[in-house]
Amino acid sequence: MVKIFDTTLRDGEQSPGCSMNLKEKVEVARQLERMKVDVIEAGFAVSSPGDFTSVKTIAETVRDSVVASLARTTEKDIERAWEALRGAVSPRIHIFLATSPLHMEYKLRMKPDEVYELAVAMTAYAKKYCGDVEFSAEDATRSDLRFLARVVEGVIKAGATTVNLPDTVGYTTPDEHYSFFTAMKERAPSMEKITISAHCHNDLGLGVANSLAAVKAGVSQVECTINGIGERAGNAAMEEIVMALHTRKDVFHEETRIVTSEITRASSLLSRITGVKVQPNKAIVGENAFAHESGIHQHGVMKHRATYEIMTPESVGLGKSSMVLGKHSGKHAFRDRVKTLGYELNDAEMEIAFEKFKILADKKKTVYDKDIEALVAKEAVQVPRTYRLESFVINSGNTITSTAVIRMIKDKKSIEKVSRGEGPIDAAFKAIEKIIGRPLSLDDYQLNSVTEGEDALGDALVKIKGGDGTVFAGRGLSTDVIEASVSACINAVNKMIYAEKEQKREAV
Ligand code: KIV
Ligand code: ZN
Repeated sequence: MVKIFDTTLRDGEQSPGCSMNLKEKVEVARQLERMKVDVIEAGFAVSSPGDFTSVKTIAETVRDSVVASLARTTEKDIERAWEALRGAVSPRIHIFLATSPLHMEYKLRMKPDEVYELAVAMTAYAKKYCGDVEFSAEDATRSDLRFLARVVEGVIKAGATTVNLPDTVGYTTPDEHYSFFTAMKERAPSMEKITISAHCHNDLGLGVANSLAAVKAGVSQVECTINGIGERAGNAAMEEIVMALHTRKDVFHEETRIVTSEITRASSLLSRITGVKVQPNKAIVGENAFAHESGIHQHGVMKHRATYEIMTPESVGLGKSSMVLGKHSGKHAFRDRVKTLGYELNDAEMEIAFEKFKILADKKKTVYDKDIEALVAKEAVQVPRTYRLESFVINSGNTITSTAVIRMIKDKKSIEKVSRGEGPIDAAFKAIEKIIGRPLSLDDYQLNSVTEGEDALGDALVKIKGGDGTVFAGRGLSTDVIEASVSACINAVNKMIYAEKEQKREAV
Protein backbone atom coordinates (compact mmCIF):
# COMPACT_ATOMS: atom_id res chain seq x y z
CA MET A 1 0.00 0.00 0.00
CA VAL A 2 1.42 3.39 -1.00
CA LYS A 3 0.37 6.28 1.21
CA ILE A 4 -0.75 9.46 -0.52
CA PHE A 5 0.53 12.61 1.18
CA ASP A 6 -1.24 15.61 -0.30
CA THR A 7 0.48 18.99 -0.09
CA THR A 8 -1.97 21.04 -2.19
CA LEU A 9 -2.63 23.29 0.80
CA ARG A 10 1.08 23.86 1.53
CA ASP A 11 3.44 23.37 -1.44
CA GLY A 12 0.55 23.92 -3.87
CA GLU A 13 -0.74 27.01 -2.18
CA GLN A 14 2.77 28.49 -2.32
CA SER A 15 2.48 28.88 -6.09
CA PRO A 16 1.51 32.24 -7.57
CA GLY A 17 -2.21 32.81 -8.00
CA CYS A 18 -3.12 29.76 -5.91
CA SER A 19 -3.67 31.39 -2.53
CA MET A 20 -6.87 30.40 -0.77
CA ASN A 21 -8.77 31.78 2.17
CA LEU A 22 -9.69 29.77 5.25
CA LYS A 23 -13.11 28.63 4.03
CA GLU A 24 -11.65 27.52 0.72
CA LYS A 25 -8.84 25.58 2.39
CA VAL A 26 -11.27 23.79 4.69
CA GLU A 27 -13.44 22.85 1.71
CA VAL A 28 -10.40 21.43 -0.11
CA ALA A 29 -9.34 19.55 3.05
CA ARG A 30 -12.83 18.05 3.36
CA GLN A 31 -12.61 16.84 -0.21
CA LEU A 32 -9.15 15.34 0.40
CA GLU A 33 -10.54 13.50 3.41
CA ARG A 34 -13.52 12.31 1.36
CA MET A 35 -11.16 10.84 -1.22
CA LYS A 36 -9.23 9.11 1.60
CA VAL A 37 -5.92 10.87 1.28
CA ASP A 38 -3.63 9.38 3.97
CA VAL A 39 -1.93 12.63 4.96
CA ILE A 40 -3.11 16.20 4.40
CA GLU A 41 -0.39 18.81 4.75
CA ALA A 42 -2.57 21.71 5.85
CA GLY A 43 0.04 24.47 5.78
CA PHE A 44 3.11 25.96 7.41
CA ALA A 45 1.76 27.09 10.77
CA VAL A 46 4.54 29.51 11.70
CA SER A 47 4.59 31.31 8.36
CA SER A 48 1.65 33.64 9.09
CA PRO A 49 -1.26 33.94 11.51
CA GLY A 50 -3.55 33.04 8.61
CA ASP A 51 -1.65 29.81 7.96
CA PHE A 52 -1.71 28.99 11.66
CA THR A 53 -5.50 29.38 11.77
CA SER A 54 -6.01 27.24 8.69
CA VAL A 55 -3.81 24.42 10.01
CA LYS A 56 -5.64 24.59 13.35
CA THR A 57 -9.10 24.63 11.78
CA ILE A 58 -8.28 21.77 9.40
CA ALA A 59 -6.72 19.81 12.29
CA GLU A 60 -9.97 20.21 14.22
CA THR A 61 -12.17 19.38 11.22
CA VAL A 62 -10.53 16.38 9.58
CA ARG A 63 -11.05 13.03 11.32
CA ASP A 64 -9.96 10.29 8.92
CA SER A 65 -6.64 11.56 7.54
CA VAL A 66 -3.41 12.49 9.26
CA VAL A 67 -3.05 16.30 9.35
CA ALA A 68 0.48 17.68 9.01
CA SER A 69 2.06 21.09 9.41
CA LEU A 70 5.42 22.00 7.96
CA ALA A 71 8.08 23.46 10.29
CA ARG A 72 11.71 24.47 9.90
CA THR A 73 14.23 22.99 12.29
CA THR A 74 13.74 25.59 15.00
CA GLU A 75 12.07 25.19 18.37
CA LYS A 76 9.71 28.07 17.63
CA ASP A 77 8.53 26.55 14.34
CA ILE A 78 7.96 23.17 15.95
CA GLU A 79 6.08 24.65 18.91
CA ARG A 80 3.86 26.67 16.60
CA ALA A 81 3.18 23.62 14.43
CA TRP A 82 2.21 21.63 17.49
CA GLU A 83 -0.03 24.40 18.83
CA ALA A 84 -1.93 24.33 15.55
CA LEU A 85 -2.05 20.53 15.34
CA ARG A 86 -2.83 19.48 18.87
CA GLY A 87 -6.60 19.26 18.23
CA ALA A 88 -6.13 16.74 15.41
CA VAL A 89 -7.10 13.08 15.74
CA SER A 90 -3.86 12.13 13.97
CA PRO A 91 -1.33 14.99 13.95
CA ARG A 92 2.05 14.97 12.22
CA ILE A 93 4.89 17.47 12.59
CA HIS A 94 6.83 17.70 9.35
CA ILE A 95 10.27 19.27 9.73
CA PHE A 96 12.73 19.96 6.96
CA LEU A 97 16.37 20.88 6.56
CA ALA A 98 18.52 20.99 3.43
CA THR A 99 21.30 18.44 3.01
CA SER A 100 22.83 19.28 -0.38
CA PRO A 101 26.26 20.97 -0.52
CA LEU A 102 24.78 23.93 -2.42
CA HIS A 103 22.01 24.56 0.08
CA MET A 104 24.20 23.97 3.14
CA GLU A 105 26.94 26.33 1.95
CA TYR A 106 24.95 29.16 0.37
CA LYS A 107 21.51 29.06 1.94
CA LEU A 108 22.06 27.72 5.43
CA ARG A 109 25.74 28.74 5.78
CA MET A 110 26.26 25.69 7.89
CA LYS A 111 28.82 22.89 7.91
CA PRO A 112 27.55 19.33 7.29
CA ASP A 113 28.23 18.36 10.91
CA GLU A 114 26.12 21.28 12.12
CA VAL A 115 23.30 20.26 9.77
CA TYR A 116 23.47 16.72 11.08
CA GLU A 117 23.34 17.86 14.72
CA LEU A 118 20.45 20.23 14.09
CA ALA A 119 18.42 17.65 12.14
CA VAL A 120 18.79 15.09 14.92
CA ALA A 121 18.18 17.56 17.77
CA MET A 122 15.04 19.04 16.18
CA THR A 123 13.61 15.63 15.31
CA ALA A 124 13.98 14.71 18.98
CA TYR A 125 12.43 18.06 19.94
CA ALA A 126 9.40 17.49 17.67
CA LYS A 127 9.08 13.97 19.02
CA LYS A 128 8.52 15.37 22.52
CA TYR A 129 5.24 16.83 21.25
CA CYS A 130 4.08 14.39 18.61
CA GLY A 131 4.54 10.67 18.03
CA ASP A 132 4.32 11.11 14.27
CA VAL A 133 7.31 13.09 12.98
CA GLU A 134 8.35 13.40 9.35
CA PHE A 135 11.83 14.60 8.46
CA SER A 136 12.48 15.96 4.97
CA ALA A 137 16.02 16.33 3.66
CA GLU A 138 15.49 19.25 1.32
CA ASP A 139 17.30 18.92 -2.03
CA ALA A 140 18.01 15.29 -1.14
CA THR A 141 18.55 14.22 -4.74
CA ARG A 142 21.52 16.60 -5.07
CA SER A 143 23.03 15.59 -1.73
CA ASP A 144 26.08 13.46 -1.06
CA LEU A 145 24.65 9.98 -0.45
CA ARG A 146 27.06 9.16 2.36
CA PHE A 147 26.17 12.31 4.25
CA LEU A 148 22.45 11.91 3.49
CA ALA A 149 22.51 8.35 4.83
CA ARG A 150 24.16 9.59 8.02
CA VAL A 151 21.43 12.21 8.50
CA VAL A 152 18.70 9.68 7.74
CA GLU A 153 20.08 7.18 10.27
CA GLY A 154 20.40 9.99 12.83
CA VAL A 155 16.83 11.28 12.50
CA ILE A 156 15.37 7.77 12.57
CA LYS A 157 17.23 7.10 15.80
CA ALA A 158 15.87 10.40 17.14
CA GLY A 159 12.30 9.28 16.42
CA ALA A 160 11.38 10.18 12.84
CA THR A 161 8.59 7.89 11.66
CA THR A 162 8.71 9.07 8.04
CA VAL A 163 11.77 10.17 6.10
CA ASN A 164 11.12 12.14 2.95
CA LEU A 165 13.84 12.58 0.31
CA PRO A 166 12.61 15.33 -2.00
CA ASP A 167 13.68 16.17 -5.51
CA THR A 168 13.21 19.81 -4.55
CA VAL A 169 14.28 21.35 -7.85
CA GLY A 170 12.84 18.70 -10.19
CA TYR A 171 16.31 17.72 -11.40
CA THR A 172 16.38 13.94 -11.28
CA THR A 173 15.27 11.42 -13.92
CA PRO A 174 13.27 8.21 -13.40
CA ASP A 175 16.23 5.78 -13.66
CA GLU A 176 18.38 7.96 -11.48
CA HIS A 177 15.59 8.30 -8.90
CA TYR A 178 15.11 4.55 -8.78
CA SER A 179 18.85 4.04 -8.19
CA PHE A 180 18.88 6.84 -5.63
CA PHE A 181 16.25 5.19 -3.40
CA THR A 182 17.75 1.75 -3.91
CA ALA A 183 21.16 3.05 -2.86
CA MET A 184 19.75 4.97 0.09
CA LYS A 185 18.00 1.88 1.43
CA GLU A 186 21.31 0.04 1.34
CA ARG A 187 23.27 2.86 2.95
CA ALA A 188 20.69 3.63 5.64
CA PRO A 189 19.25 0.23 6.65
CA SER A 190 17.02 1.76 9.35
CA MET A 191 14.84 3.11 6.53
CA GLU A 192 13.26 -0.32 6.43
CA LYS A 193 11.63 0.33 9.82
CA ILE A 194 9.90 3.57 8.87
CA THR A 195 7.89 5.12 6.04
CA ILE A 196 10.08 6.20 3.14
CA SER A 197 8.71 9.06 1.10
CA ALA A 198 9.34 10.71 -2.27
CA HIS A 199 8.44 14.31 -3.09
CA CYS A 200 8.98 15.29 -6.71
CA HIS A 201 8.81 18.64 -8.43
CA ASN A 202 8.03 18.95 -12.09
CA ASP A 203 10.67 21.30 -13.52
CA LEU A 204 11.59 18.86 -16.29
CA GLY A 205 8.06 17.48 -16.60
CA LEU A 206 9.19 14.31 -14.82
CA GLY A 207 7.47 14.71 -11.44
CA VAL A 208 5.02 11.85 -11.87
CA ALA A 209 7.49 9.55 -13.67
CA ASN A 210 10.04 10.12 -10.90
CA SER A 211 7.44 9.43 -8.20
CA LEU A 212 6.49 6.16 -9.90
CA ALA A 213 10.16 5.17 -10.19
CA ALA A 214 10.44 5.77 -6.45
CA VAL A 215 7.45 3.48 -5.87
CA LYS A 216 9.22 0.82 -7.93
CA ALA A 217 12.24 1.28 -5.71
CA GLY A 218 10.08 0.61 -2.65
CA VAL A 219 8.99 3.95 -1.17
CA SER A 220 5.80 3.69 0.82
CA GLN A 221 4.63 7.32 0.58
CA VAL A 222 4.46 9.79 -2.28
CA GLU A 223 3.88 13.50 -1.87
CA CYS A 224 1.83 15.28 -4.50
CA THR A 225 -0.83 17.89 -5.22
CA ILE A 226 -4.19 18.01 -6.95
CA ASN A 227 -3.80 19.14 -10.59
CA GLY A 228 -0.03 19.18 -9.95
CA ILE A 229 -0.13 22.76 -8.65
CA GLY A 230 2.95 23.97 -6.81
CA GLU A 231 6.09 26.09 -6.90
CA ARG A 232 7.44 26.85 -10.42
CA ALA A 233 6.38 23.97 -12.72
CA GLY A 234 4.47 22.41 -9.84
CA ASN A 235 4.55 19.17 -7.87
CA ALA A 236 3.81 15.67 -9.08
CA ALA A 237 0.08 15.44 -9.83
CA MET A 238 -1.82 13.22 -7.42
CA GLU A 239 -4.46 12.09 -9.91
CA GLU A 240 -1.78 10.92 -12.35
CA ILE A 241 0.18 8.96 -9.75
CA VAL A 242 -2.95 7.36 -8.33
CA MET A 243 -4.40 6.40 -11.71
CA ALA A 244 -1.06 5.07 -12.96
CA LEU A 245 -0.80 2.82 -9.90
CA HIS A 246 -4.44 1.83 -10.26
CA THR A 247 -4.39 1.16 -14.01
CA ARG A 248 -0.96 -0.49 -14.11
CA LYS A 249 -1.15 -2.74 -11.05
CA ASP A 250 0.55 -5.32 -13.26
CA VAL A 251 3.64 -3.11 -13.33
CA PHE A 252 3.68 -1.50 -9.89
CA HIS A 253 1.96 -4.17 -7.75
CA GLU A 254 0.83 -1.43 -5.40
CA GLU A 255 -2.43 0.13 -4.33
CA THR A 256 -3.56 3.33 -2.69
CA ARG A 257 -6.55 4.06 -0.45
CA ILE A 258 -7.76 6.80 -2.77
CA VAL A 259 -11.40 6.79 -3.84
CA THR A 260 -10.62 7.43 -7.49
CA SER A 261 -14.20 8.45 -8.33
CA GLU A 262 -13.62 11.61 -6.25
CA ILE A 263 -10.71 12.75 -8.44
CA THR A 264 -12.67 14.87 -10.91
CA ARG A 265 -14.57 16.61 -8.15
CA ALA A 266 -11.31 17.43 -6.32
CA SER A 267 -9.77 18.78 -9.49
CA SER A 268 -12.68 21.00 -10.40
CA LEU A 269 -13.16 22.22 -6.83
CA LEU A 270 -9.55 23.36 -6.69
CA SER A 271 -9.66 24.91 -10.11
CA ARG A 272 -12.89 26.74 -9.31
CA ILE A 273 -11.51 28.07 -6.03
CA THR A 274 -8.13 29.23 -7.33
CA GLY A 275 -9.29 30.25 -10.79
CA VAL A 276 -6.34 28.29 -12.21
CA LYS A 277 -7.61 26.30 -15.14
CA VAL A 278 -6.46 22.80 -15.99
CA GLN A 279 -4.99 22.46 -19.47
CA PRO A 280 -7.49 20.62 -21.73
CA ASN A 281 -5.08 17.81 -22.63
CA LYS A 282 -3.92 17.24 -19.03
CA ALA A 283 -3.91 13.54 -18.15
CA ILE A 284 -6.86 12.29 -16.07
CA VAL A 285 -8.55 15.63 -15.33
CA GLY A 286 -8.18 17.67 -18.53
CA GLU A 287 -11.37 18.40 -20.41
CA ASN A 288 -10.23 16.20 -23.32
CA ALA A 289 -8.72 13.39 -21.26
CA PHE A 290 -11.60 11.07 -22.14
CA ALA A 291 -12.81 12.69 -25.36
CA HIS A 292 -12.39 10.69 -28.53
CA GLU A 293 -12.36 13.06 -31.45
CA SER A 294 -11.10 11.00 -34.36
CA GLY A 295 -13.63 8.89 -36.26
CA ILE A 296 -11.46 5.79 -36.06
CA HIS A 297 -11.18 6.08 -32.30
CA GLN A 298 -14.89 6.75 -31.86
CA HIS A 299 -15.72 3.76 -33.97
CA GLY A 300 -13.34 1.58 -31.95
CA VAL A 301 -14.69 2.73 -28.60
CA MET A 302 -18.26 2.11 -29.72
CA LYS A 303 -17.37 -1.46 -30.66
CA HIS A 304 -15.35 -2.11 -27.51
CA ARG A 305 -14.35 0.57 -25.00
CA ALA A 306 -10.98 -0.99 -24.28
CA THR A 307 -9.81 -0.40 -27.87
CA TYR A 308 -8.84 3.16 -27.06
CA GLU A 309 -9.78 3.57 -23.41
CA ILE A 310 -7.34 2.35 -20.74
CA MET A 311 -9.52 3.55 -17.88
CA THR A 312 -13.17 4.53 -17.72
CA PRO A 313 -14.36 8.09 -17.19
CA GLU A 314 -16.55 6.74 -14.37
CA SER A 315 -13.46 5.48 -12.51
CA VAL A 316 -12.36 9.10 -11.99
CA GLY A 317 -15.88 10.32 -11.26
CA LEU A 318 -16.61 11.73 -14.66
CA GLY A 319 -20.27 10.81 -15.11
CA LYS A 320 -22.53 12.13 -17.82
CA SER A 321 -24.21 15.35 -16.77
CA SER A 322 -27.69 14.24 -15.88
CA MET A 323 -30.84 16.32 -15.73
CA VAL A 324 -31.72 16.23 -12.08
CA LEU A 325 -33.97 19.05 -11.01
CA GLY A 326 -36.31 21.55 -12.54
CA LYS A 327 -38.31 24.60 -11.52
CA HIS A 328 -40.90 22.50 -9.75
CA SER A 329 -38.35 20.81 -7.51
CA GLY A 330 -38.71 21.58 -3.85
CA LYS A 331 -36.18 22.45 -1.18
CA HIS A 332 -36.08 18.88 0.06
CA ALA A 333 -35.06 17.47 -3.32
CA PHE A 334 -32.50 20.24 -3.74
CA ARG A 335 -31.00 19.61 -0.29
CA ASP A 336 -30.78 15.88 -1.06
CA ARG A 337 -29.05 16.52 -4.36
CA VAL A 338 -26.56 18.92 -2.77
CA LYS A 339 -25.74 16.28 -0.16
CA THR A 340 -25.27 13.59 -2.80
CA LEU A 341 -22.90 15.89 -4.63
CA GLY A 342 -20.88 15.99 -1.40
CA TYR A 343 -21.44 19.54 -0.16
CA GLU A 344 -22.17 20.50 3.40
CA LEU A 345 -23.94 23.83 3.63
CA ASN A 346 -25.30 25.36 6.80
CA ASP A 347 -28.96 26.46 6.85
CA ALA A 348 -28.24 30.05 5.80
CA GLU A 349 -25.97 28.95 2.93
CA MET A 350 -28.52 26.35 1.84
CA GLU A 351 -31.24 29.00 1.83
CA ILE A 352 -29.19 31.28 -0.44
CA ALA A 353 -28.19 28.40 -2.72
CA PHE A 354 -31.82 27.31 -3.03
CA GLU A 355 -32.96 30.83 -3.88
CA LYS A 356 -30.30 30.96 -6.60
CA PHE A 357 -31.32 27.56 -7.85
CA LYS A 358 -34.93 28.71 -8.18
CA ILE A 359 -33.89 31.77 -10.19
CA LEU A 360 -31.73 29.56 -12.40
CA ALA A 361 -34.44 26.94 -12.87
CA ASP A 362 -36.79 29.69 -14.00
CA LYS A 363 -34.36 30.82 -16.69
CA LYS A 364 -32.93 27.49 -17.75
CA LYS A 365 -34.91 24.61 -19.20
CA THR A 366 -32.74 21.87 -17.76
CA VAL A 367 -30.63 22.08 -14.63
CA TYR A 368 -27.73 19.65 -14.58
CA ASP A 369 -25.58 18.37 -11.72
CA LYS A 370 -22.78 20.56 -13.05
CA ASP A 371 -24.98 23.68 -12.74
CA ILE A 372 -25.91 22.78 -9.18
CA GLU A 373 -22.29 22.03 -8.32
CA ALA A 374 -21.13 25.36 -9.68
CA LEU A 375 -23.80 27.16 -7.68
CA VAL A 376 -23.26 25.29 -4.46
CA ALA A 377 -19.46 25.20 -4.60
CA LYS A 378 -19.49 28.98 -4.78
CA GLU A 379 -21.83 29.17 -1.78
CA ALA A 380 -19.73 26.69 0.22
CA VAL A 381 -16.68 28.95 0.08
CA GLN A 382 -18.55 32.24 0.28
CA VAL A 383 -16.91 34.98 2.33
CA PRO A 384 -18.97 37.65 4.13
CA ARG A 385 -20.62 39.82 1.48
CA THR A 386 -19.49 43.36 2.26
CA TYR A 387 -21.01 44.44 -1.05
CA ARG A 388 -24.00 42.94 -2.83
CA LEU A 389 -25.26 43.63 -6.30
CA GLU A 390 -28.65 45.31 -6.24
CA SER A 391 -29.15 46.13 -9.91
CA PHE A 392 -27.32 47.09 -13.07
CA VAL A 393 -28.14 48.72 -16.39
CA ILE A 394 -25.66 48.53 -19.22
CA ASN A 395 -25.86 50.39 -22.48
CA SER A 396 -23.63 49.09 -25.19
CA GLY A 397 -23.36 48.91 -28.95
CA ASN A 398 -20.90 49.18 -31.80
CA THR A 399 -21.63 52.87 -32.45
CA ILE A 400 -21.85 54.18 -28.88
CA THR A 401 -19.58 54.37 -25.86
CA SER A 402 -20.61 51.78 -23.30
CA THR A 403 -22.09 53.04 -20.07
CA ALA A 404 -22.89 51.18 -16.88
CA VAL A 405 -25.14 52.13 -13.99
CA ILE A 406 -24.40 49.85 -11.05
CA ARG A 407 -26.23 49.83 -7.77
CA MET A 408 -24.70 47.93 -4.85
CA ILE A 409 -25.68 47.48 -1.21
CA LYS A 410 -23.26 47.99 1.66
CA ASP A 411 -24.39 47.99 5.29
CA LYS A 412 -28.02 48.07 4.12
CA LYS A 413 -27.34 51.29 2.16
CA SER A 414 -27.76 51.50 -1.58
CA ILE A 415 -24.92 53.10 -3.57
CA GLU A 416 -25.26 53.91 -7.25
CA LYS A 417 -22.53 54.98 -9.68
CA VAL A 418 -22.33 55.53 -13.40
CA SER A 419 -19.32 55.00 -15.60
CA ARG A 420 -18.28 54.86 -19.21
CA GLY A 421 -15.81 52.33 -20.54
CA GLU A 422 -14.30 50.42 -23.43
CA GLY A 423 -17.12 47.93 -23.72
CA PRO A 424 -19.80 46.85 -21.24
CA ILE A 425 -17.54 44.91 -18.87
CA ASP A 426 -14.99 47.70 -18.62
CA ALA A 427 -17.77 50.23 -17.94
CA ALA A 428 -19.26 47.97 -15.25
CA PHE A 429 -15.92 47.36 -13.52
CA LYS A 430 -15.19 51.11 -13.54
CA ALA A 431 -18.56 51.79 -11.88
CA ILE A 432 -17.70 49.18 -9.23
CA GLU A 433 -14.36 50.94 -8.63
CA LYS A 434 -16.27 54.18 -8.02
CA ILE A 435 -18.60 52.48 -5.54
CA ILE A 436 -15.85 50.85 -3.49
CA GLY A 437 -13.75 54.02 -3.72
CA ARG A 438 -10.50 52.43 -4.88
CA PRO A 439 -8.97 51.31 -8.16
CA LEU A 440 -9.02 47.63 -9.02
CA SER A 441 -5.94 45.97 -10.41
CA LEU A 442 -7.43 43.44 -12.83
CA ASP A 443 -5.24 40.34 -13.16
CA ASP A 444 -7.44 38.08 -15.26
CA TYR A 445 -10.93 37.86 -16.69
CA GLN A 446 -12.47 34.74 -18.21
CA LEU A 447 -15.92 33.67 -19.25
CA ASN A 448 -16.92 30.04 -19.70
CA SER A 449 -20.11 28.07 -19.82
CA VAL A 450 -20.83 25.45 -17.18
CA THR A 451 -22.75 23.14 -19.52
CA GLU A 452 -23.60 23.21 -23.20
CA GLY A 453 -26.66 24.71 -24.89
CA GLU A 454 -28.02 28.12 -25.71
CA ASP A 455 -29.30 28.70 -22.19
CA ALA A 456 -26.08 27.50 -20.55
CA LEU A 457 -25.03 29.01 -17.27
CA GLY A 458 -22.21 31.53 -17.75
CA ASP A 459 -19.32 31.14 -15.31
CA ALA A 460 -17.24 34.32 -15.04
CA LEU A 461 -13.85 34.50 -13.33
CA VAL A 462 -12.39 37.83 -12.29
CA LYS A 463 -8.98 38.00 -10.63
CA ILE A 464 -7.85 41.17 -8.92
CA LYS A 465 -4.57 41.95 -7.22
CA GLY A 466 -4.55 43.25 -3.65
CA GLY A 467 -2.03 45.80 -2.34
CA ASP A 468 0.51 43.11 -1.33
CA GLY A 469 0.28 41.33 -4.68
CA THR A 470 -2.08 38.59 -3.47
CA VAL A 471 -4.50 37.56 -6.19
CA PHE A 472 -8.20 37.19 -5.35
CA ALA A 473 -10.31 35.07 -7.65
CA GLY A 474 -14.02 35.88 -7.79
CA ARG A 475 -16.68 33.80 -9.51
CA GLY A 476 -20.05 34.80 -10.83
CA LEU A 477 -22.75 32.59 -12.27
CA SER A 478 -25.70 33.62 -14.37
CA THR A 479 -27.37 32.86 -17.65
CA ASP A 480 -26.68 36.55 -18.37
CA VAL A 481 -22.93 36.89 -19.01
CA ILE A 482 -22.78 40.54 -17.94
CA GLU A 483 -24.47 39.74 -14.64
CA ALA A 484 -22.04 36.82 -14.19
CA SER A 485 -19.09 39.16 -14.80
CA VAL A 486 -20.35 41.88 -12.47
CA SER A 487 -21.05 39.29 -9.73
CA ALA A 488 -17.58 37.78 -10.19
CA CYS A 489 -15.99 41.20 -9.79
CA ILE A 490 -17.99 41.90 -6.61
CA ASN A 491 -17.10 38.43 -5.28
CA ALA A 492 -13.37 39.17 -5.82
CA VAL A 493 -13.76 42.54 -4.09
CA ASN A 494 -15.48 40.87 -1.11
CA LYS A 495 -12.68 38.31 -0.88
CA MET A 496 -10.06 41.05 -0.91
CA ILE A 497 -11.87 43.00 1.82
CA TYR A 498 -12.31 39.82 3.90
CA ALA A 499 -8.58 39.00 3.61
CA GLU A 500 -7.59 42.54 4.57
CA LYS A 501 -9.88 42.45 7.62
CA GLU A 502 -8.52 39.05 8.65
CA GLN A 503 -4.96 40.30 8.32
CA LYS A 504 -5.71 43.32 10.50
CA ARG A 505 -7.45 41.13 13.07
CA GLU A 506 -4.50 38.72 13.18
CA ALA A 507 -2.00 41.57 13.52
CA VAL A 508 -3.71 42.82 16.73
O1 KIV B 1 10.39 20.55 -2.25
C1 KIV B 1 10.75 20.40 -1.07
O2 KIV B 1 11.88 20.06 -0.77
C2 KIV B 1 9.76 20.63 -0.03
C3 KIV B 1 10.13 20.27 1.36
C4 KIV B 1 9.90 21.40 2.29
C5 KIV B 1 9.42 19.03 1.77
O3 KIV B 1 8.66 21.06 -0.31
ZN1 ZN C 1 8.24 20.80 -2.48
